[in-house]
Amino acid sequence: MEAIILAGGFGTRLAPLTYTRAKPLLPILNKPMITYLIDSLPKEIDKVVLAVNYRKDQIEKYFKENDVGREIVVNEEPKPLGTGGAVKFAEKHITGTFVVLNSDIISSLNLKEMIGFHRRVNAVATISLWPVDNVSEFGVVEIKEDSRITSFIEKPKPEEAPSNLINAGAYCLEPFVLDYIDTGRLVSMEQEIFPRLIEDTKAFYGYRISEYWVDVGRIESYLKVNRLLLDHNGREYVVGERSEIKGRIKYSSLGCNVFVDEHSIVESSIVFDNVRVEKNAVVLNSVVGEGCVIKKGARVVNCVVGDDEVVEENAVVENTKVWTKPLPEGYPKRQVGNVIKK
Ligand code: GTP
Repeated sequence: MEAIILAGGFGTRLAPLTYTRAKPLLPILNKPMITYLIDSLPKEIDKVVLAVNYRKDQIEKYFKENDVGREIVVNEEPKPLGTGGAVKFAEKHITGTFVVLNSDIISSLNLKEMIGFHRRVNAVATISLWPVDNVSEFGVVEIKEDSRITSFIEKPKPEEAPSNLINAGAYCLEPFVLDYIDTGRLVSMEQEIFPRLIEDTKAFYGYRISEYWVDVGRIESYLKVNRLLLDHNGREYVVGERSEIKGRIKYSSLGCNVFVDEHSIVESSIVFDNVRVEKNAVVLNSVVGEGCVIKKGARVVNCVVGDDEVVEENAVVENTKVWTKPLPEGYPKRQVGNVIKK
């Protein structure tokens, strides 16, 4: 059985971190985000098709150098085709019922059980669902008692919402769904294909996730998932190889070859490889990219610092993104499109 992992987005909401790296490779507890997804796949999935585009070379390199125990096929789109277009472009690899996964979701979904459910009810499509409190910020599903989805309602008022369940970014699909997707153009699975499947087949089902689900689309959720997995693993922090820590570290993950000098504090943050945090500096609720230097006495609070940036001595940087270099060529100025309505 095949899994298609959608891993070709620009990840604009995670800039400047994504100016220099593919979003699926962003580290969570020092492991690329995408490996959590791959590790959670049931045995029956023996082939993983990575639908890539932006920063394809980085993703390809990672999987060449790291064996993840399954056949990995890197399928590069000639141009970004959106979530539906990318699935259509992977059609040649599909041999039967298959799954599609967003690469940026960290959740407790039991995919094996979801596939079992899909088969039991004879579904054409089954999508994972997650309950939210703030329905008016999302598209929610209208769902019957037997778990059949009858429509998606965009951003309903709370009193008018048919449920509090949103599309959680994992799908189990029958191959004939591919016939619904045009070749070679940008297609949104969620906006174009799903409504037509609901209408035509009446066999479009939802499968609820319980426990936890995080869409790692924004900096806040990136920091949140880091904390969640630290707690889950009973750790207060993680530190990579060859790092030297003299200061105080709390609820954070630090990469390899990181130096944190004495009287400095790193709290509720993610620090990438090869970073120096000098004496009396504070890094709080922030993400610090690879190769950065946070100089003596500087304060970095609620910030995202792009790779190879320097925060000067005693500088106070709060609630901002630090990036002093030109935008990488071809990188969009704003969000191109999204899969799950946020
Ligand atoms: P933002 O720019 O911040 O919205 O991030 P994004 O580009 O990753 O978009 P979004 O979070 O909505 O995408 C959800 C998932 O679909 C991610 O795993 C993306 O990598 C993937 N994705 C989005 N667009 C494309 C595309 O055109 N092609 C492929 N192959 N994957 C895509």
